[in-house]
Amino acid sequence: MPKQEGMEHELLQAALKVMDNAFVLWGFKVGAAVLAEDGEIYEGCNVESWISGLGICAERNAINHAVLHGNKKIEIVAVVIEDKNVEKTRPCGVCLQYIKDFSENNNTKVIMAKAKAGKILSESIETKAIEELLPYSYEMKQRALDSFMQS
Ligand code: THU
Repeated sequence: MPKQEGMEHELLQAALKVMDNAFVLWGFKVGAAVLAEDGEIYEGCNVESWISGLGICAERNAINHAVLHGNKKIEIVAVVIEDKNVEKTRPCGVCLQYIKDFSENNNTKVIMAKAKAGKILSESIETKAIEELLPYSYEMKQRALDSFMQS
């Protein structure tokens, strides 16, 4: 398997594994895994709450996991859902913005897949650049960003 494909496979398997730990009260399980700038994989699952507006998606949990290990950039995000009512796996709008915030030059790759009976469905795998998924994103002025990145 070529190196890039191997990494994508590893990320999807990591996302699938942590999907099991999702804390679900009303929705469905989601697993995510990100490749951070340090070359490591960080996972996250969704955590729900009965309080509306609380809880967090798997993608943002995975990114926060990478940040707490000192990363500020994310190269690839993999996200996996196993639910019969979800036709295609797509990060929500909030997660798209968050992925973009941690993207270098807006080219973080997002790999989306569905799982069935604990296995990734290969025909469901789709890969897009964050720029394609969120072409009109909110952006801070470059100067403010530069001073943050130097901090
Ligand atoms: N969810 C995620 O974890 N990621 C997304 O991008 C979309 C939605 C979670 C939130 C909630 O716990 C459940 O999936 C159903 O919306």
